[in-house]
Amino acid sequence: MAVEVEIDVQVLKSEIKKTYASVSQEPEKDFIFPTGRPWAEDLGYPAELANVPETAVGSFAGVANPWQLGRLAPGERVLDLGSGAGTDSLIAAQMVGEQGHVTGIDMTPEMLTKARGAAAEMEVGNVEFVESEAEQLPFPEASFHVVISNGVIDLIPDKEAVFAEIFRVLTPGGRIQIADVTIQNPVSAEGRRNIDLWTG
Ligand SMILES: C[S@@+](CC[C@H](N)C(=O)[O-])C[C@H]1O[C@@H](n2cnc3c(N)ncnc32)[C@H](O)[C@@H]1O
Repeated sequence: MAVEVEIDVQVLKSEIKKTYASVSQEPEKDFIFPTGRPWAEDLGYPAELANVPETAVGSFAGVANPWQLGRLAPGERVLDLGSGAGTDSLIAAQMVGEQGHVTGIDMTPEMLTKARGAAAEMEVGNVEFVESEAEQLPFPEASFHVVISNGVIDLIPDKEAVFAEIFRVLTPGGRIQIADVTIQNPVSAEGRRNIDLWTG
């Protein structure tokens, strides 16, 4: 069922970009959500976290641990939807190895800069970061074996568009490993109009 959205989606996107540009550029700041390496460790992130540079993990802003759903196999092609500063992409790059490939997409340029910097520091050649919106992915059908995502789809009003894109770019029998925020009770019209509730 489509969610009725009474906000200007372009205004929302611009506010989200501002929030996550700040997470990427001022990682030491106190946000209303937890960030950084201690948070990823608390979530029980896998051993590969230790090899991910602070450049990425300092701006980690995931909401839970998508690796609890399973590891990736060597050789797999992976899409990280809303890759932020790149922590999950760089963990995925270690799991899939040189025969595999990881593509992170994000709409916030400052996050992409951080993620690319962290990949260069790690000297990994099997990961790339692409500026894109999750609702309209610049990839052909059946491009990926697995889609991972952490704390992104909750920020996007048009969830039907996102899942349509995920299913389009997955190979038949592909997997999704998503950590995200869900709500069990209806949100009031006033709540749905409150941009601050969306961006956090
Ligand atoms: C909470 S952060 C999580 C980042 C990363 N997954 C992590 O765990 O650190 C949300 C990210 O989603 C990105 N984002 C939000 N809406 C998006 C959209 N419609 N398309 C692409 N990226 C989006 C933001 O730019 C931000 O980097």
